[in-house]
Amino acid sequence: MTSLSPAALALPHDELRAQFPSLSLQVNGHAALYADGPGGTQTPIGVMQAMSGYFSRDNANTGGPFATSQRTDQTIAAARREMARFLHAARPEEIVFGQNTTSLFFALGRALRRMWHEGDEIIVTSLDHDANVAPWTTAAEDARAVVRTWEFRRENCTLALEDLEAMLNERTRLVAMTHASNAVGTIPDVAGAVRLVRARAPHALVVIDAVHYTPHNPVDVQALDCDFLGCSAYKFCGPHLGILYGKYDHLDRLEAYKVRPSSKKPPGKWETGTQSFESIAGLSAALAYLAQLGGGGDDPRAAMQAVREYERSLTSAFLAGAAGVPGLTIYGLINAASIGQRTPTFGVTLAGWHARDLAAKLGEQGIFVWDGNFYAVDVVNRLGLEDAGGLVRIGFAHYNTLAEVDRVLGALTALAFRRP
Ligand SMILES: Cc1ncc(COP(=O)(O)O)c(C=O)c1O
Repeated sequence: MTSLSPAALALPHDELRAQFPSLSLQVNGHAALYADGPGGTQTPIGVMQAMSGYFSRDNANTGGPFATSQRTDQTIAAARREMARFLHAARPEEIVFGQNTTSLFFALGRALRRMWHEGDEIIVTSLDHDANVAPWTTAAEDARAVVRTWEFRRENCTLALEDLEAMLNERTRLVAMTHASNAVGTIPDVAGAVRLVRARAPHALVVIDAVHYTPHNPVDVQALDCDFLGCSAYKFCGPHLGILYGKYDHLDRLEAYKVRPSSKKPPGKWETGTQSFESIAGLSAALAYLAQLGGGGDDPRAAMQAVREYERSLTSAFLAGAAGVPGLTIYGLINAASIGQRTPTFGVTLAGWHARDLAAKLGEQGIFVWDGNFYAVDVVNRLGLEDAGGLVRIGFAHYNTLAEVDRVLGALTALAFRRP
């Protein structure tokens, strides 16, 4: 079995984990093991304090001529700057806050469809969470545009660029793809896809769903050259809050659905109603928490490189150990050489076990994993796993340890010999 060596993280693991009250939970006499991060990560104490601090010191609506309202304005402006830095956006006005990624994508879809016409084409993928499918397919339906699906390759759950290339043309208006699959962990070549789109489909915009990618890797919207990108703070140790990045010119030019008195300029025109200011305060605290992990000062993007390196050691350990678990199938990339093209999220089945029963058995031992399709409906459907209850998803985050990976593997091995 492997030993704990979190070499790439600047903070020792016991110090890091001590910042998460929930990590000391006990279940049936077992220490809780959170392998459910792809559904939402745990929250460090600094985020909780920032949120309650907002309520005790700063609570007010925006734009007023008094102290608490001014502090709320400052809180939002600071979070917008920090989030722009985290995604490497060119300016803070390219960051839009909202309830969650799904809602922000639906709002964007309503705006985009005003520019689409009958016979225009949009492309979605079968590897995506439905939050990056339905907003565009419903908008396409309204505009009588044609929906085309970029199918993932079943043998390794990857998206091949040549398959996209064959679908791009002058009529393509949108390509929506994932930065990382929340079901099987695949990281497709997004930068390569954007280059192809620019070369072959001059009227197309590219939307990236980075909800699952962001907790595991640094994001760089300028290097990707994508038009829009969504992510959710509750997947990277923050509160329940969605973030939409858009190139400023697009956010400015597109017509958003909004109330009359609201700002006509981005980001205000995209932020409908009153925001969750306490969550925006919590977002800043989450970014400050992440920044500590890199040892490179206060830069959370540098920290995410350290997170990526550390998590690769978890991936290697899991893949190596999983090969010895009888009847365990991992869907997606499993070779040591492809570790850079996946997150530490594993969609698995265990022979003889329905996904829900296996997740429940692990849950009894304090090991938290999700089962089903996780809204990645086409992934489970294309893999033919609906009757088996879908996949069991074992998803590690930077606060997990190699000892925890070993514990999951040990539990799976024991259950492999104890079929229901
Ligand atoms: C890959 C991916 N995209 C989108 C979403 C939806 O995010 P939200 O809950 O912020 O709408 C999720 C949530 O699980 C996800 O994993």
